[in-house]
Amino acid sequence: MSRITPSQAKRIFAIAATVVVCKVLVEVLRNYPDYLPPNFTADFLLGREEYFWQGYHLPFYVHLTVGPVTLVLGMLLISDRFRSRWPRWHRRLGRAQASFILVLLVPSGLWMAAYAASGPIAGTGLAVLAVLTGTSVALGWRAAVSRRFNEHRRWMMRCYLCLCSTVLLRLMGGVGTVLEIAAPWYGIQATWTSWAIPLLAYEVWLRRTGLPFVGTGLLGSHKAAEARRMQ
Ligand code: HEM
Repeated sequence: MSRITPSQAKRIFAIAATVVVCKVLVEVLRNYPDYLPPNFTADFLLGREEYFWQGYHLPFYVHLTVGPVTLVLGMLLISDRFRSRWPRWHRRLGRAQASFILVLLVPSGLWMAAYAASGPIAGTGLAVLAVLTGTSVALGWRAAVSRRFNEHRRWMMRCYLCLCSTVLLRLMGGVGTVLEIAAPWYGIQATWTSWAIPLLAYEVWLRRTGLPFVGTGLLGSHKAAEARRMQ
């Protein structure tokens, strides 16, 4: 029986992860009719009527617009196939992505974190996530401009994992519902672990393999991966 090679395993993982991200994104978008106009009996807006129109609505609608865009752009931008076929589009969309994240997503996330549904500890987790997302995209952008592409890949992979925390957070919410976990600590821990665990796992992967995952044989050759590893 033929064994699955590491690059095949990575490809299967990437395809499965993409399917999950798309599925969760569709579920997130299905809530949007409750947000415009705001339905204050809907889960997320419950109890927010008091302050919604006193400024909160601004970051909220910015976030709702730009969040899904950055998640989809992130998916395209970490694809080796997309980058090698359309390098110019990779650069253009990459610049747009960095601007969206730094100018819109991070400030709106920070603002909303101050009103986090699960309280200040959860809000701090989301604020740290905002800072990490902004820092990783800024450092990734700087590395690309300086043509340090291996470093660029590493930072952009970290940035994508930060963006995907929104997916993990909702998956954890689903698990909590199925297991009937009503305790407040569950929602609070999810705002931290949804980004901390993937980032930690990625750092362990980096230490063990030295490969940034993207651009390392995932959709390309293994020789190319080895060559990049030497960079
Ligand atoms: C990675 C940086 C991000 C940060 C720091 C962040 C932060 C936040 C915060 C603080 C809230 C309010 C949570 C609460 O009050 O409990 C929120 C809600 C929300 N975020 Fe993000 N977010 C990020 C990424 C994303 C992405 C990539 C999406 C794309 C789908 C997204 C979509 C939403 C939506 C739709 C809501 C409203 C609640 C809901 O319908 O679930 N966010 N976000």
